[in-house]
Amino acid sequence: MERFVIEGGGVLNGSVSINGSKNSVLPILAAALLIKDKCRIYNVPHLSDVYTMLELLRYYGAKIKEGLALEIDCTDIENKRANDKAASIRASFLLVGALLGRFKRVSMPMPGGCSIGLRPVDLHLKGFCCMGADYSFEQGIITIEYDRLRGNEIYLDFPSVGATENIMLASVLAEGTTIISNCAIEPEIVDLAEFLNSAGADIRGAGSDTIVIKGTDRLHGTDHRVIPDRIEAGTFMLAVAGTGGCCRIENIIPDHIKPIILKLREIDAEVKEEENSVIVSSDGKLPNTDIKTMPYPGFPTDMQAQFMSIMAKGIGTGIVNETVFENRFMHVGELAKMGANITVEGRTAVVKGVEVLKGASVKATDLRAGAGLILSGLCAEGITEIGEIQYIDRGYEKIEEKIRQLGGKIKRVQS
Ligand code: EPZ
Repeated sequence: MERFVIEGGGVLNGSVSINGSKNSVLPILAAALLIKDKCRIYNVPHLSDVYTMLELLRYYGAKIKEGLALEIDCTDIENKRANDKAASIRASFLLVGALLGRFKRVSMPMPGGCSIGLRPVDLHLKGFCCMGADYSFEQGIITIEYDRLRGNEIYLDFPSVGATENIMLASVLAEGTTIISNCAIEPEIVDLAEFLNSAGADIRGAGSDTIVIKGTDRLHGTDHRVIPDRIEAGTFMLAVAGTGGCCRIENIIPDHIKPIILKLREIDAEVKEEENSVIVSSDGKLPNTDIKTMPYPGFPTDMQAQFMSIMAKGIGTGIVNETVFENRFMHVGELAKMGANITVEGRTAVVKGVEVLKGASVKATDLRAGAGLILSGLCAEGITEIGEIQYIDRGYEKIEEKIRQLGGKIKRVQS
């Protein structure tokens, strides 16, 4: 197993380039299954979740060539029994919506919960049933089938990102028109719609709370560049804010990280916006504030652990309210090992900033909690060792190289 070893206390200076978005490329890879033609996808990040998704696409027969662009040809795919590998990443459930566009009967392992919550798929299934499908469970495998998949009006009780994406995928080749109300409006939804529309789909309203998809007969090949990863960008912005220093975060879309920019300014970090970058500077001594995670354009739940990690060493007390997932405070126990003073009551954490965090041996409990521990390690005094870093590799490409490029002292070692 590998771990990160971090020597804290330094500041970060320089510039770092942000990769393509994990949470955009994963639904786009699933969407490629709908297209009986060759697609070229640019700006694909090298992440373990992406490799898992590519393995699943190959399992169904997709022809994939990796290079400057990722070339995917799903002309000849075959329907197959569910692949257990699909259970290893939640995003694999997005294959269901796409496969329903090609086959009348699809089986997939039920996506398990993970440490941040139960993560049910009831809204995905509600959408498929509204379109005329039925489903059944057997030994942890869910099978969805239909005679005719017809467009319909679907109301999402919660603006679920995955349910919005999955229903969009199932609708593009269905008969008639599908209207998804109270849908997610994240930038990744817009990117998926743009990819599908460039392949001949007819999707309007992505980015608003109502998306209208007119079913079409066939999609054609296309080229697409994945949007930058707003969460990777936000993670580096918080790293600089927490350690102190001045860094340019490049290849981003500032509009997608507005909530993070505004919260950083609230805690006296300086953020200068440029066309496709931001410059963050800070003295590393930040007053704490409150954060409440909300669906986009609210403060992203995927930034909560990272923000709490720098609050742990902030001045004063801040309240963290996690409204999206029911169990996304797993990092609190690990931060406590570093001397953080945080109390949790349900979905609310009270963070009392301490003068100094001390390096300790901790472990990543999930992707973003692991990212948060890197930030707290960089801000702490002494050495921090982070185990279970495979979680971090799911969502960050070469994170330790990028941090070293900014002057941070971190290395990946075999344990
Ligand atoms: C996506 O997960 C992201 N993952 C998550 O990022 C992100 O945290 C989340 O959206 C919210 O922004 C990918 O895009 C691959 P949801 P998803 O459906 O689609 C409940 C990361 O760190 N819900 O919007 O699974 C659910 O339990 C990951 O990159 C239902 O109740 O999120 C949760 O409480 C973590 N029923 C809330 O909605 C459903 O059918 C938000 O879930 C679906 C969801």
